[in-house]
Amino acid sequence: MKRRLHRALLAGLALILLGAAAVLVWSGAYNVSAVTQHWSPVFKLMEYAMRQSVHRHAQQIVTPALDAPDMATAGARHYERFCVQCHGAPGRAPDTAALSMQPVPGPLSAAARKWQLRELYWIVSNGIKMTGMPAWQAHLSEQERWEVVAYLRTMPGQLPAVQTVPTDAQPIPAQGDIERGRTALTQYACQSCHRIPGVVGAPIDVGPALDSMGSLAYISGTLVNTPENLARWIRHPKRYKPNGAMPELGVRPADAADMSAYLRWADRNTR
Ligand code: HEC
Ligand code: HEC
Repeated sequence: MKRRLHRALLAGLALILLGAAAVLVWSGAYNVSAVTQHWSPVFKLMEYAMRQSVHRHAQQIVTPALDAPDMATAGARHYERFCVQCHGAPGRAPDTAALSMQPVPGPLSAAARKWQLRELYWIVSNGIKMTGMPAWQAHLSEQERWEVVAYLRTMPGQLPAVQTVPTDAQPIPAQGDIERGRTALTQYACQSCHRIPGVVGAPIDVGPALDSMGSLAYISGTLVNTPENLARWIRHPKRYKPNGAMPELGVRPADAADMSAYLRWADRNTR
């Protein structure tokens, strides 16, 4: 008797949840805009589901020897043709189209530490549903996909020498808008390299966490930290650190001022 009641309760609860989900979908209330960020628990759940799925599906793959010296070199060529437009490369930004994708492709400089080699091979071969990560098994042979993995293992490697140091002729607005700044940070993929307070993203440390930009004395150890200089750095990091790993992202002056305002505000207000 008790057991039956239990089951009925569970079934009822499941129905209510299903109903709520149906209403949410039907009403159109969940915003599919790639400008608004996922709610943090939703983001974490999706990341977790992706990891678990890759772990499981890559289990049977046997990793061949990847040490032959020309393997990584060949992989670097495939990477240049097929990956750099979305993932960028050390010191180099992705193409504009990839900056505002959600989820953001992000740098792969730590990928070989985060994933097993066979998991990287699986990801490259199969892609990832609902993210924009394409499958490459129809376009790269098995050998070529392992070459890509051999290259990923050597990343980040050397930063390329910078040919031209950018100038910053355009004036930067003196006042930035905090709320617009928070959105702009995600539209230029800043969270793909930095942990940023108040911005949802994977726990990644390609660049330093941007949680003390209101109090830090020097930006990147070189530039006195004022609101204007912070915006200048965001627009043209290569001007101040030509061989640094932070790429030029084509940030417009007004967006840089907004991001600067947000980062300084976030230091004091999001703990
Ligand atoms: C059209 C854009 C696009 C191209 C081209 C692309 N990727 Fe991706 N990739 C993505 C997106 C989007 C994700 C998902 C990021 C996420 O969920 O965090 C992703 C995820 C990945 C991941 C998992 C990253 C992680 O650690 O979370 C790896 C590894 C990867 N891609 C490798 C590659 C390689 C190697 C190539 C070239 C053969 C490539 N990608 C080409 C968009 C792209
Ligand atoms: C591909 C990775 C990458 C991306 C994308 C990126 N950064 Fe960086 N950033 C770095 C690295 C690496 C450093 C450290 C540079 C150094 O000190 O030479 C850095 C440094 C910084 C600093 C100085 C931090 C400090 O502690 O001194 C700020 C501020 C900053 N980035 C803001 C941004 C903003 C805003 C964006 C988006 C417009 C952005 N970054 C995008 C990699 C990145």
